[in-house]
Amino acid sequence: MLKVDNLSAGYGDIIAIRDLSFSVEAGQILAFIGANGAGKSSTLMCLMGLVEQKSGSILINGQDISTTTVEARITNGLAIVPEGRRVFPDLNVHENLIVGGHVTEASIMKSGIDYVYTVFPRLAERRGQSAGSLSGGEQQMLALGRALVSQPKLLIVDELSLGLMPKVVDECYAVLETLKQNGIGIILVEQNTERALSVADEIRVLEAGNLVWSGTALDAKNNTALTQSLMGLS
Ligand SMILES: Nc1ncnc2c1ncn2[C@@H]1O[C@H](COP(=O)(O)OP(=O)(O)OP(=O)(O)O)[C@@H](O)[C@H]1O
Ligand SMILES: [Mg+2]
Repeated sequence: MLKVDNLSAGYGDIIAIRDLSFSVEAGQILAFIGANGAGKSSTLMCLMGLVEQKSGSILINGQDISTTTVEARITNGLAIVPEGRRVFPDLNVHENLIVGGHVTEASIMKSGIDYVYTVFPRLAERRGQSAGSLSGGEQQMLALGRALVSQPKLLIVDELSLGLMPKVVDECYAVLETLKQNGIGIILVEQNTERALSVADEIRVLEAGNLVWSGTALDAKNNTALTQSLMGLS
């Protein structure tokens, strides 16, 4: 579904990621692991069109979206849960979800919002409450929910578990598991290596903007030297 070849991206003269190639199939979870500054967020943001792509290609179902706008990528089935959640604090829960569907056809947005309220009843209860007054866990649910309103085919999630209690993280991951079963492709960045290894099908390790290890989560788990160095990161 997603095929990325020789992707390089950065900020002005700074190259944050170099020559990355990877792909994601429908119903597959791919996790990026790496130290702070390795280029994980830059990779995800570049897929969304939010960080400048220097070279390479990004294909969705065979169509190159490299030069398209963020809005066009959302219409093409991509959505992101950004690092740090970035909910709109002064808007209420429902308004945040509407923002998530702003480029999406009204009927899809409506069923998307209904779906979010079904999987996160706590958001439904707090639909009129300002996002800034939600707990950290509720804000993460809202950030995830906002990305789901457009009913993406490929969901991109940056640091879902950061700073959250395990119970909330479990709740969010249960939703990702359901999406996977429904054929949604998922790209994760997860600082919790153990969780990444347990939920992902495929693992990619980034170091200073380069892909230094690629393989299945099973191969990663069986590679003692690799898991030891990865555990040291989280
Ligand atoms: N807005 C920016 N302007 C300039 N350089 C940036 C910017 N954002 C990130 N970088 C640089 O790009 C590189 C990769 O950063 P990135 O945020 O992608 O790393 P990361 O793997 O997500 O790290 P973390 O685990 O801390 O979130 C770093 O060297 C960083 O300093
Ligand atoms: Mg990051």
